[in-house]
Amino acid sequence: MDVIGVFTSGGDAPGMNACLRAVVRTAIYRGCRVIGIQRGYVGMIEGEFEELTAKSVSNIVQLGGTMLKTGRSERFREREGREEAAEQLRRAGVEGLVAIGGDGTFRGAHDLWEEYGIPIVGVPGTIDNDLYGTDATIGYHTAVARGVEAIDRIRDTATSHERIFFVEVMGREAGFIALAVGAAGGAELIAVPERDMSVEDIYRTLEEGVERGKTSSIVVVAEGDEEGGALAIARKVQQMGPVECRVCVLGHTQRGGNPVPADRILASRLGAEAVDALLDGKSDVMVGLIDKRIVFTPFRETWEKRKNLDQDLYELARMLAT
Ligand code: F6P
Repeated sequence: MDVIGVFTSGGDAPGMNACLRAVVRTAIYRGCRVIGIQRGYVGMIEGEFEELTAKSVSNIVQLGGTMLKTGRSERFREREGREEAAEQLRRAGVEGLVAIGGDGTFRGAHDLWEEYGIPIVGVPGTIDNDLYGTDATIGYHTAVARGVEAIDRIRDTATSHERIFFVEVMGREAGFIALAVGAAGGAELIAVPERDMSVEDIYRTLEEGVERGKTSSIVVVAEGDEEGGALAIARKVQQMGPVECRVCVLGHTQRGGNPVPADRILASRLGAEAVDALLDGKSDVMVGLIDKRIVFTPFRETWEKRKNLDQDLYELARMLAT
């Protein structure tokens, strides 16, 4: 294989640039040329390609976002869009691909492999950490760090005003960020989609805290919680009794900024491994790191199998918050 294409797709994640640097430099070191594809599948269909050299990825290991930009493509979901993308890759001489993204990215990659036989290896890049086949995804550690920084600040004002804060963190379908942020930030409660907790349960727990002498509390809520997010929960709690609630939705602040070292290192390792896997003839797999070992998981399993939330950590956080 002489020419490798690389792209980032779906929600950007801090560490994607470190991964691009690793992919480009490993491929060049192994004697390949690298084509960068702009804006994920959108740019693949449009043929937005550029040659990347070792120098084009200088000075990006520390940057958030993605230098190739990213996107979510409706056209790529259709066979016709994928056909156009495959044709563009063929014209540019791209013989294999490294796809950096989440489950949506891997679904598209799987189709491209099945329909057009283009070898493709995935690297998990999403802050949500909701992919089976790796302990952590690129961007997750940074998102958690951003969340904890925010909780620490909110704690000051919550204590001073003796208020209850509902802090919403990202995680459309999973509570990994919420659990880690809540556990590290000493949250009084953590609401995640993986665990049933009604608004009544939340109210009762907060009330018990008050009875034990707590004058302020922080509830971390995963965006995808079944009770409807921080705003909805706070409104309902407010209606249940005389408590003063405030809401803070951290949203995209968790996706921006410099990646923490753990994400840079993970991104560098997985990016390099993805190139070597392609050159070894692997395809239709995601490269991940489990218990410090490199593991390859078929794309289909990354979204069909469920990665479990650490229930022990959840229980510990609960106990320590009493
Ligand atoms: O998948 C990553 C993620 O940050 C989710 O946590 C969040 O729900 C979603 O992307 C937000 O997407 P967008 O940036 O398109 O609003």
